[in-house]
Amino acid sequence: MKKTLNWQLQEIANIYDEAPLWSAPFGKLLLDNIPMKPNCQIVDIGFGTGFPLIELAQRFGKGSHVYGVDLWHTAIQRAKQKIQTLQIDNISIFEQNAENIPLKDSTIDLVSSNLGINNFENKIAVLKEAYRILKPGGKLCITTNPIGTFHELFSIFQTVIEGMQISTKALENYIAHRSTKEIIIHDFTQHGFQYTKAETDAAIIRFANAQALFDHGLLRIGFRESWEKLIPNEYKNSFFEQSIALIQRTIDEAGCFVMSIPILYMEFEKKA
Ligand SMILES: C[S@@+](CC[C@H](N)C(=O)[O-])C[C@H]1O[C@@H](n2cnc3c(N)ncnc32)[C@H](O)[C@@H]1O
Repeated sequence: MKKTLNWQLQEIANIYDEAPLWSAPFGKLLLDNIPMKPNCQIVDIGFGTGFPLIELAQRFGKGSHVYGVDLWHTAIQRAKQKIQTLQIDNISIFEQNAENIPLKDSTIDLVSSNLGINNFENKIAVLKEAYRILKPGGKLCITTNPIGTFHELFSIFQTVIEGMQISTKALENYIAHRSTKEIIIHDFTQHGFQYTKAETDAAIIRFANAQALFDHGLLRIGFRESWEKLIPNEYKNSFFEQSIALIQRTIDEAGCFVMSIPILYMEFEKKA
C-alpha cells in the first residue's frame, strides 16, 4: 500500500480541485456506468487536465493500465503534476491527436471519453482509431451534452434576433449541430460499433445576475466565442445588451435564470 497523503502540504492543496465543475456530472455518470473488471487496458481520449484519466487509473488499480491521449500541452503538464503528486504508476500519456494512437490493433479493453470524441473536429477518424485499438468485445464509453443544452438561453437569443429582424439561420444551425442519442447511434454503428447502452442525467447552472452569465469563466472559455459568431458584427453590442435585459427580466421575476444541461452516457461494443 502507498503511504497516506498529508493534506496540509502545498502540493496536495494544488491538486485538490481535481475535476472542473462542468466536467464532473458527466464524469460521474461515466464512472457510475463504465464496465469494470480487473486487469484492463484502457484508453481515455481527451483527458484535459486529467479527468477521468486519473480517476480511472485509481479505480481500476494494479493490474490495469490507462493510456491518456490529448493534444493540449498546458493541460497535460497539469495532469502530469497530479499523477506525480498522487504517485500513480499505471498511466501513460500520449501527447498527440487521437486520430493516430500509438497502440497496436485489438489490444484495448475499454476506450473512454468524457465530453470528448463526440465534439472533436474529425470525430470519424477518432472513432475508426478507437475501433482499431479495441479488442473484439471491447467497449467504447462516452459522455456528451446533447441538443437541449442551454435551451433557455437560446430561446432568449431567438427572441432578440427575431426582434432585430436579422436571420436566425446561424442560431438554428448552431443549436442543431449538437447530437442526439439517435444521431450518435447512427454515426457510431456506421463505423462497426454495436450500440449496447445509454443513460441520461441532467444538471443546471443558475445565475442571479444576467451580466454574470456572460462574464462567467466557464462560458468565456468554452462558449461565448461561438455565440459571438452567430451575430453580424454591427449588431453584436445591441444583441448582447438586449439578451442581458431579457435575462435580467426573468431574474427579477423568478429570482434566478436557469440553464439546463442534459447529460448523456453512451456505450458501444466492437463486435466480437
Ligand atoms: C471538453 S475537454 C474535456 C476534458 C476532460 N475529459 C474533462 O472531462 O474535463 C475536451 C478535450 O479533448 C481534447 N481534444 C480535442 N480534440 C482532440 C483530438 N483530436 N485528439 C485528442 N484530444 C483532443 C482537448 O484538448 C480537451 O482536453
